[in-house]
Amino acid sequence: MTRRDLIAGNWKMNATHLEAIQMVQKLSYRLDPADHERVDVVVCPAFTALRSVQTVIEADHLRIQLGAQNVHWEESGPYTGEVSPLMLSRLGVRFVIVGHSERRQVFGEDDTVVARKLKAVVATGMTPILAVGETLDQRDRGETDEVIGAQARTALRGLDADQLGRMAVAYEPIWAIGTGHNADPDTAAAAALVIRAVVSELGGLEAAAAARILYGGSVNPGNISAFMAKREIDGALVGGASLDPDQFAAIVRYWV
Ligand code: PGA
Repeated sequence: MTRRDLIAGNWKMNATHLEAIQMVQKLSYRLDPADHERVDVVVCPAFTALRSVQTVIEADHLRIQLGAQNVHWEESGPYTGEVSPLMLSRLGVRFVIVGHSERRQVFGEDDTVVARKLKAVVATGMTPILAVGETLDQRDRGETDEVIGAQARTALRGLDADQLGRMAVAYEPIWAIGTGHNADPDTAAAAALVIRAVVSELGGLEAAAAARILYGGSVNPGNISAFMAKREIDGALVGGASLDPDQFAAIVRYWV
């Protein structure tokens, strides 16, 4: 089973729609068709920039794919300030990050909310990028496998084998996000194995062999190739370094 690489840029709450247009254009100049043959390249701008970035992608026939950073689980309704999966999918959004630690920690999203969102994204035909990861305290207490296993299991339970096989799950240790201290590639690969075992437990070996497991947390052009060299790691979820088109392109072209 060969899994296609997936490298996604999470722009978080950065870039106005005008800046986002420039960023996606610059990124596109730095990538060539061969890169897209090898890697699914995804950018996840803020909601306010999705339409602008989508317009550039369509007008310039770019192979960069559009992702969103968050979503609500209902299709419509009295949910002031929320954005539905249907709204995203009609905009051409293909990927949605679900359960990012900033959503869990700052906005109080628990595993139940994450599971609902994930199912709504799948039901709308988009691909979730489920983020799971432990805190430094949990790691120090030796609870990493248990924590990420439980997060993955709660979110993914109820999906069928086919849906599980099309999932992307990002292992994002919280202590590595935005800190400049990336996880050791062996540590990340071990966590990816734990996540793949959960997919296997829920959906069987074929689903587990097809699902893509990413690493996220202080990924940069200097460390990406060590992660991608691990058989268990199929890509990356990139925060800070994805804001700079030069750096993000260098991450996408990790083999160069
Ligand atoms: P970082 O963020 O690359 O800036 O550490 C990763 C993430 O939050 O997805």
